[in-house]
Amino acid sequence: MTPPDSNAPAPSMPVPVAGWAEGRPAILGEGPRGAPLMFVGEQPGDEEDRQGHPFVGPAGRLFDRALEAAGIDRKASYVTNAVKHFKYIQRGARRLHQSPDAGDIRLYRPFLVQEVATVSPRFVVALGATATQALMGRKLPLLKLRGQVFEAPEELPAGLPVLITVHPSYLLRLPDPELKRREFERFVAELQFAGRAAR
Ligand code: URA
Repeated sequence: MTPPDSNAPAPSMPVPVAGWAEGRPAILGEGPRGAPLMFVGEQPGDEEDRQGHPFVGPAGRLFDRALEAAGIDRKASYVTNAVKHFKYIQRGARRLHQSPDAGDIRLYRPFLVQEVATVSPRFVVALGATATQALMGRKLPLLKLRGQVFEAPEELPAGLPVLITVHPSYLLRLPDPELKRREFERFVAELQFAGRAAR
C-alpha cells in the first residue's frame, strides 16, 4: 500500500493556481490608499508575473492608452486583480494563460475584499467577467450588463458602486479593426464615466 503523502493537500483544500503552487510571488494591487477609483482585472499574465506588477503586459498597455484617452491618471488610481497569481499551463518554453475558475475566484476573494476595505475607493470598475464575479460575489452575464453600475454586496462594503465593463484583452483579441476602434471608444467612454463618478 502506498503511504499517504503528508505534503499533499487535504481533499477539501482548494488547489492553488500554477503561479502560487510554484512559489511565485503574488502580484498585488498598486496605487495609493484612498484612491477614489479602483480597477479590478482578472489575474496577472506572463509579463506581470515576470515584472511583479499588475497590467504591464499587452493588455496593460492597451489599458494605459484607454486611461490616457479618458483623462485618468493611473498613478492616482488603484489597479489590482481578482486573482493574484498567474494561472497557466506550461507548453514547452511557453506558459499559456488559463482562465480562473469559480474556485480560484473564491480562494482570492478575501484578499480583494480586504484591498477594497483598505483603499476605500468611491467607485470601482470591474474589467471583465472574472472581476465582475469576484466583486459581485456571483457570476453575471458580462456583455448584457456591460456599461451598467451595480451596488456591491454587503461584504465589499454594501452600496459601493461597481461599473461592469470588458477586459482590455477582449479589445486586443477583436479581429475587425473597425469593431476594435468602436469598442475601444466605448471602453474609453466607460472609463470617463467612472472617472467623473469617482470625483
Ligand atoms: N490581465 C489582467 O487581468 N491583469 C493583469 O494584471 C494583466 C493582464
